[in-house]
Amino acid sequence: MIVGSLRKGSINREVANALIALAPAALRLGIVEIGQLPIYNQDEDVSPPAAWTSFRERIKSADAVLFVTPEHNRSVPAALKNAIDVGSRPYGASAWNGKPGAVVSASPGAIGGFGANHHLRQSLVFLNVPAMPQPEAYIGGADKLFDADGKLVNDDTRKFLQGFMQTYAKWIIANSN
Ligand code: FNR
Repeated sequence: MIVGSLRKGSINREVANALIALAPAALRLGIVEIGQLPIYNQDEDVSPPAAWTSFRERIKSADAVLFVTPEHNRSVPAALKNAIDVGSRPYGASAWNGKPGAVVSASPGAIGGFGANHHLRQSLVFLNVPAMPQPEAYIGGADKLFDADGKLVNDDTRKFLQGFMQTYAKWIIANSN
């Protein structure tokens, strides 16, 4: 899992933690951090920063990739776009290639990060990540769904996220090589 927000109190991290708690037992989930990745610069690919190398290896070792992201200015947050770019290079050795994916976006706003969700899907098409089409997950009003300890307190959202993860588990199996 990759969380597109770097901040400590991130709603999207709370969503990610809820998804981990609600996932079927067959899925072993973990968050791969992206905040430590230097901004991608192709010049560095001859001698890449250690953080890039370990990130690429971590993604390569995963069977699937699940993105949970906020929307920044109607698009993908820069930190997440950077992680996608880092993982996609060097050319011909993309860590993302063929991994079954899914996208969840969450925002305090009413449209739940729809713009970020779909801009991210545009990159995933190019990266040959089959991204689960349904259920779509635009979590609006997301600041009202968790208590002060980051616990999910909305039953409808809990049911929705649980169903999402059950469908995603099937998607992974159906799209694995
Ligand atoms: C935002 N926010 C935001 N929200 C939204 O629904 N659509 C948007 O386009 C934007 N744009 C935007 C740009 C920038 C630079 C920031 C910092 C924020 C608000 C955003 O949804 C809110 O800060 C969330 O709490 C971010 O998610 P995390 O960090 O809580 O996971």
